[in-house]
Amino acid sequence: MNRHPSGLVVGIMRGLAATAVLVVPMSASADSEQARSQVWDIARGGQLYDDWGKVLGKELPDTTHPAYPASGKQKGSATWRCKECHGWDYKGADGAYGKGSHHTGIKGLRAMVGADPKAILKIISDDNHRYTEAMIGRGEMEKLALFVSLGQIDMDQHIDRATRKSRGEPGRGAPTYQTICAVCHGFDGKTLNFKTPETPEYVGTIARENPWEFMHKARFGQPGIPMISLITLPDTTLADLLAVAQTLPEK
Ligand code: HEC
Ligand code: HEC
Repeated sequence: MNRHPSGLVVGIMRGLAATAVLVVPMSASADSEQARSQVWDIARGGQLYDDWGKVLGKELPDTTHPAYPASGKQKGSATWRCKECHGWDYKGADGAYGKGSHHTGIKGLRAMVGADPKAILKIISDDNHRYTEAMIGRGEMEKLALFVSLGQIDMDQHIDRATRKSRGEPGRGAPTYQTICAVCHGFDGKTLNFKTPETPEYVGTIARENPWEFMHKARFGQPGIPMISLITLPDTTLADLLAVAQTLPEK
């Protein structure tokens, strides 16, 4: 247990549900019928990490982020997403972005697990990051900081980095996929095509090609669209879900 600077008592979690988290609601304002849970804030922070522009309905700046290295292969608005520099596995240069078209050499955020969200908030708006309150409002920045401090998991525990294979069991993941994801993505994962008819990209494609992205999106939801967040399920259940998604068709 950890007493938070804000007075909230939370279980530092690795898989929220796994360590029964005690969530003390934020001070309820007169007009809110139900107090927002801290877990909801963390989930929102996770989506902001993915793409704050889509979450907030804003355009990301179209100039390349000043901290993005000249040697990097991305440019423009994409370089303003947190994940572009720090990775889907939060390990930056020490993780999956250690090589390939998203390589930047920038460090990850794993050292910030459990850090004071106020200190994280300062980093996000520092001269290196240059996120202003006009871009990401103060309340949303606080959620981002909560995600960095309390919402990360160690993806290497669930995904073999070399083979990209989930360490979970497809048989155990099938019920989760079929009862939660299939309503939108289809039993075979082909109801939603994220790309074009000629070069389709399905949930099975992402699961195989970028299992870290899959895990992040399954835990927090897809920014800007009504997709659910599975953050309250144990990480191992999500690894099982990833395992079954890796068996779904790509074509
Ligand atoms: C264009 C690249 C880039 C983007 C995008 C970016 N960062 Fe960073 N971030 C960096 C660099 C570079 C450092 C290391 C700075 C240093 O060590 O002086 C860093 C460091 C950090 C740290 C401190 C990590 C540590 O262990 O010291 C945190 C926390 C952080 N970033 C959060 C975020 C968040 C949240 C976002 C999205 C709102 C974000 N960053 C977007 C480049 C980026
Ligand atoms: C309520 C409907 C709904 C549910 C339930 C749902 N999704 Fe989604 N999901 C979507 C929509 C809509 C998109 C965006 C499709 C697009 O961008 O073309 C999406 C996108 C995704 C993406 C990312 C595509 C990308 O690269 O941008 C992944 C991964 C994903 N879903 C996985 C899942 C998993 C795993 C589950 C079950 C835990 C799930 N989804 C449940 C509607 C849903």
